[in-house]
Amino acid sequence: MKAKAIVSLSLRQRGEGWGEGPNTFTVQAHRLTDTPVLAIADERVLKLHPQVAKALAGKATLVSLRAGERAKSLKTLELLTKRALTLPRKLTVLAIGGGTIGDVATVFAHTFKRGVGRLIHVPTTLLAAVDSSVGGKGAVNVAGAKNVLGVFHPADETWLCPEFFTTLTEAQRREGRIEAWKMVVTLDAKRFAQWAKAAPGDDELVRVARALKHAVVAKDPYETKGLRVVLNFGHTLGHAIESLSHFRVRHGEAVGLGMLYALDVGVKTGVTPGAVAEQVEAALPLARGARQQLAAWLAPTNRAALRELIRADKKDGMILLRRPGSWVMTKGFGP
Ligand SMILES: NC(=O)c1ccc[n+]([C@@H]2O[C@H](COP(=O)([O-])OP(=O)(O)OC[C@H]3O[C@@H](n4cnc5c(N)ncnc54)[C@H](O)[C@@H]3O)[C@@H](O)[C@H]2O)c1
Repeated sequence: MKAKAIVSLSLRQRGEGWGEGPNTFTVQAHRLTDTPVLAIADERVLKLHPQVAKALAGKATLVSLRAGERAKSLKTLELLTKRALTLPRKLTVLAIGGGTIGDVATVFAHTFKRGVGRLIHVPTTLLAAVDSSVGGKGAVNVAGAKNVLGVFHPADETWLCPEFFTTLTEAQRREGRIEAWKMVVTLDAKRFAQWAKAAPGDDELVRVARALKHAVVAKDPYETKGLRVVLNFGHTLGHAIESLSHFRVRHGEAVGLGMLYALDVGVKTGVTPGAVAEQVEAALPLARGARQQLAAWLAPTNRAALRELIRADKKDGMILLRRPGSWVMTKGFGP
């Protein structure tokens, strides 16, 4: 399969490590001289991209996982630990997959024998490329609550291998696009105006979103200065919807609904001018029927459960938008 070039990914970023990309996985794996290597890979990716297992043959212990929120569990950590038990601490962990594989692999890398030698992310979804493989957060879900056990452990390298993105569905791409728009809406007014006029290609989306997120994370790596919270725009309600749906509503989709909700709360509380909310809503690459879905999730019968889930989700309040590129953190979770 011919890989669509994601041409603009040669940007290097300090502090997070950045591979020599864009390169195919086979080329990147060829550079891998470390031993030993534990590769934690999405089973679907292994099926769709057989060159991955081929490139790792004889170089890595390969563990295949079914992706999805259920992979972000204590059970997966136990399984990975058992598979790696005899490997030394100075281990390279290669996380090949979307955000769920990346998140659980990050927790494993941080905790296995008190921290492995190297962590390399190979994001295979757009969402992982624009967001979850940047910034060092990893987490697992416990008792149905999202990301309640987690760590900060930045990747030493990220390999952006364009061939993986060719097998994503339109819905999967939309999830990544939503997270990228989240960065631009909250952090970059000029880019928002440009993108609202002409929607960017996915390569630009990845490049810009990673750079914006990296800039925030560099100033607040451990979320102690109140700057990283901006990355939660849309996530307060989004995470609660994901949990309430037992993760049937996918992360990017739920964040899209959460962003709509944050715009509504912003308008109702006088923080977001109505015209700004309309402009942002029109620009966001939301799924058809998003408004109706949001209304259904906010039905009175769900309110108490949503409130409880939000409380369990480490959030002190919500990010509201004043205008593109300007945000405020409010106490409370909406009217
Ligand atoms: N750590 C962070 O900072 C951070 C940030 C944002 C999101 N997240 C987390 O990321 C997760 C969502 O990530 P995701 O949407 O990538 O989820 P995912 O890992 O479940 O992947 C989504 C689906 O895409 C499939 N897939 C993966 N690569 C593919 C490919 N190349 N071709 C075809 N199918 C492919 C997977 O098998 C899965 O079915 C959530 O758990 C969220 O909480 C973490």
